[in-house]
Amino acid sequence: MSTPMDLAGKHIVLGLSGGIACYKAADFTRELVKAGATVQVVMTEAAEQFITPVTLQALSNRSVYTSQWDAREPNAMAHINLTRDADAVVIAPASADLMAKLAQGRADDLLSLMCLARPLLSCPLLLAPAMNREMWAHPATQRNVAQLRADGTLVLGPGNGDQACGEIGDGRMLEPAELFAELVAFFQPKVLRGKRVLISAGPTFEPIDPVRGITNHSSGKMGFAIARAAAEAGASVMLIAGPVHLPTPRNVRRIDVTTARQMFDAVTGAASAHDVFIATAAVADWRPASFNDHKIKKQPGEKSPPSLELTENPDILAAVARLPAAPYCVGFAAESHDLLKHAREKRVRKGVPLIVANLGPATFGQDDNALTLVDANGERELPRADKLTLARQLVAEIAARLGAKA
Ligand code: C5P
Repeated sequence: MSTPMDLAGKHIVLGLSGGIACYKAADFTRELVKAGATVQVVMTEAAEQFITPVTLQALSNRSVYTSQWDAREPNAMAHINLTRDADAVVIAPASADLMAKLAQGRADDLLSLMCLARPLLSCPLLLAPAMNREMWAHPATQRNVAQLRADGTLVLGPGNGDQACGEIGDGRMLEPAELFAELVAFFQPKVLRGKRVLISAGPTFEPIDPVRGITNHSSGKMGFAIARAAAEAGASVMLIAGPVHLPTPRNVRRIDVTTARQMFDAVTGAASAHDVFIATAAVADWRPASFNDHKIKKQPGEKSPPSLELTENPDILAAVARLPAAPYCVGFAAESHDLLKHAREKRVRKGVPLIVANLGPATFGQDDNALTLVDANGERELPRADKLTLARQLVAEIAARLGAKA
């Protein structure tokens, strides 16, 4: 998916403490720079044992700071100056030792000194722990992590899996792409904090026989982008996905289904426990009336092809909108012509407050889209943009409508 310059204008101070995960910091730096951030790297002496400042200087395009005695700063106060224009300090990897120091407010090297001297209100601290599983599980580390959280630090991960030492467990640093997604999410406005959002996405597949079926070109990209945007906005998100080949966005619970009826069961079972339902799925309107247990074979000399009897699928969105404890329902209208007319009619027919209209052939499988929001007050255009940008705008629009309703 084409991504927006998610960190344009942001200045990030990236701290590295000692650990083998230092090698991941190189890729992470690249991701930050590619997304438009300026990156100032600060390394501890131990970090320099794992990766050189030259590597990080080349990737960040700025010389790296490693010592509180650095004479480059005119006032000799690198520990103060470095965070004054920073939007965040991210420490990746954060070693057990560094976290112990920060928890105690010790300041015997540039990185810990800088963290203690940073302006608490304008410069948040994010840590990506990286260590052996026993070190992570140790009561001393857990005590330090709890203290750091209580002090307002955001702890990213750690992940779980194979460790450089050969052991398996909790303590791996998150991958650069995961750290990047967490940081981008951190900067998004939390307009859906505390809300529960249910989303249907992708096509459905209606089997004819064991090898054939009826489906459509929906890629699921719009629905997955909305799930990511809602999670970034602080919502707890459940995504009911038809058959698609997309990774699950971070912090989203996903349930995979195949047919419209499976999607109906999954969505209606969960709907009442949610504040918002966004129906982006391109649900097949009809399914074969019967399923052939065996592949329908072409017979030699057959004059006419077999006929396929269809029956209607349940309308998931309309059913949810009719529930006594219905969430705020948002429908999608993918049309090939007369977009607005169909969208207005659909809004009334399905009994939902908001319909998002788009041109089917111009959106299916594409990374970009353009949306028109249709509600009781009229229409609003969200001009062509990548789907994640549109998803964030749609989330803000929904949040504003929820606020108005409350
Ligand atoms: O009626 P139509 O398929 O054009 O309506 C599209 C909207 O209704 C989308 O939001 C889609 O997810 C939802 N829908 C549904 N169940 C169906 C058909 C459509 O939830 N069976």
